[in-house]
Amino acid sequence: MWVELCKAIVITWLLPVHCLPVEQRATNVSLQNPDLFAFHRAMLAIDSTSGRETNMTDFVANHLRSLNWTVELQAVHNPTLDPNIRRENIYAYLGSNRTTRLLINSHTDTVPPYYPPSDDDENVYGRGANDAKGQIAVQLFALEKLRKENKIKEGDVGILWDVGEEEYADGIRAANSLNITPIWSITGEPTESFQATGHKGGFTVYLNSTGKSAHSSVPHLGRNAIVQLVAAYNEVVQKKFSANRFWVNTTISLDKIQGGLVPNQVPDNAIGTINVRNAANASVVLEELISAFDKIPYVSIIRNASMSNPIKFDVIKDWIPEKVMPYGTDLASWTGKNYRFLIGVGSITTAHTDHEVVSKAEMIQGVDYYADFITGLLNGTFQVDHAGTFPNITP
Ligand SMILES: *[C@@H]1O[C@H](CO)[C@@H](O)[C@H](O)[C@H]1NC(C)=O
Ligand SMILES: *[C@@H]1O[C@H](CO)[C@@H](O)[C@H](O)[C@H]1NC(C)=O
Ligand SMILES: *[C@@H]1O[C@H](CO)[C@@H](O)[C@H](O)[C@H]1NC(C)=O
Ligand SMILES: *[C@@H]1O[C@H](CO)[C@@H](O)[C@H](O)[C@H]1NC(C)=O
Ligand SMILES: *[C@@H]1O[C@H](CO)[C@@H](O)[C@H](O)[C@H]1NC(C)=O
Ligand SMILES: *[C@@H]1O[C@H](CO)[C@@H](O)[C@H](O)[C@H]1NC(C)=O
Ligand SMILES: *[C@@H]1O[C@H](CO)[C@@H](O)[C@H](O)[C@H]1NC(C)=O
Ligand SMILES: *[C@@H]1O[C@H](CO)[C@@H](O)[C@H](O)[C@H]1NC(C)=O
Ligand SMILES: *[C@@H]1O[C@H](CO)[C@@H](O)[C@H](O)[C@H]1NC(C)=O
Repeated sequence: MWVELCKAIVITWLLPVHCLPVEQRATNVSLQNPDLFAFHRAMLAIDSTSGRETNMTDFVANHLRSLNWTVELQAVHNPTLDPNIRRENIYAYLGSNRTTRLLINSHTDTVPPYYPPSDDDENVYGRGANDAKGQIAVQLFALEKLRKENKIKEGDVGILWDVGEEEYADGIRAANSLNITPIWSITGEPTESFQATGHKGGFTVYLNSTGKSAHSSVPHLGRNAIVQLVAAYNEVVQKKFSANRFWVNTTISLDKIQGGLVPNQVPDNAIGTINVRNAANASVVLEELISAFDKIPYVSIIRNASMSNPIKFDVIKDWIPEKVMPYGTDLASWTGKNYRFLIGVGSITTAHTDHEVVSKAEMIQGVDYYADFITGLLNGTFQVDHAGTFPNITP
């Protein structure tokens, strides 16, 4: 009762009064920045699975326009996708100068399956909570805070929020031709609020397993291609692949199997999709995989997509703690020769899962980190520790 009455009074006279009791206020982190969480939640309410980013792009672009950012939309074409679905990168800046010193980057798409947001006093849950809608929210609120404080102006910052990061990297590849040449770029992905010092390379290979068909009532007369594929994987996954200690280790993961036709026939073919996260030269790891599978009869590797090598990032000296990341990002396909940073809220340990989460307190801290980072680079007090290497992509 008191809370409702209080809210009515606050709204009527616009008084700076907190209606919740002190103990509740202290625990309800949302109240420290309700607009941040409302914007985050509105993005999470939109399904923007890779390939179907239209509604998210429109929502974010309109929001930026309402805040008086100049917004360019770059069409991204992908021959493997439905041409009737409009897909666009967002490039935004202040005023009319599109050549800015600092590029703020993240992505608008998410992995499937989509599920809607929910929250409690500590956390926000939902597809994209940290990968990467939480990053977009934090980045925008840091920029808006700095605008209100007159700490950024035309020519300082550009925003690139691209499509397709999770599946195709087609958005970032298209963005390479936007003809923007920042001095620095910062990409938002879940890094648990560490400055990322680098991340692994990555590539996908297919395993082709050839079995022998038989009637399912006499399965011993056949050779089951699916079982054979899984057995081959289980053998190879035990191996140690080349790795440089900086990136920790090389991992492989069997992520998809296609095989079999009908319920009464032993399958004679199966295709497995193996995702590799390489902590060493991709070509070297590929050779090791090929030779490992070569020793196993009836299975062979198909490689028909590009591979990337591990990379290192630049960091700010004597700022927040540093850590290497096990995953890959769009940065592996960004060809700009600028200093590159990778910092974000939330953890890769819940990204891509059915329990994706980001802490509200970490998001509020993230806004401060981003604001500090942007100001420190622009005003020249932040020293860059230039360890960064440029990606090396093997077509
Ligand atoms: C915390 O704040 C959010 C946003 O204002 C609100 O939706 C939620 O109901 C609050 N929780 C509690 C327990 O007051
Ligand atoms: C965008 O939202 C509309 C309305 O909810 C929906 O019908 C449409 O399928 C969505 N578009 C995409 C590409 O998901
Ligand atoms: C919007 O931005 C333009 C270009 O920077 C500026 O001239 C104009 O005053 C701004 N409008 C508002 C309402 O802030
Ligand atoms: C645009 O901004 C960049 C970076 O701040 C600056 O170098 C350049 O001179 C500006 N261009 C114009 C036309 O003002
Ligand atoms: C898998 O191997 C079989 C037998 O060598 C071959 O006929 C088939 O074309 C291969 N599949 C693919 C997708 O390469
Ligand atoms: C890779 O390193 C992680 C982190 O130390 C560890 O948990 C995992 O078991 C390692 N995997 C392999 C295949 O070495
Ligand atoms: C990766 O290994 C291949 C094959 O050994 C070699 O040609 C290439 O130069 C290496 N690339 C890097 C970046 O070390
Ligand atoms: C690569 O090969 C796999 C397995 O045959 C196939 O499913 C996939 O569509 C191919 N990808 C490209 C880009 O050709
Ligand atoms: C420059 O930026 C840093 C980091 O955000 C800040 O601590 C410092 O006060 C700023 N200095 C000036 C002169 O604005």
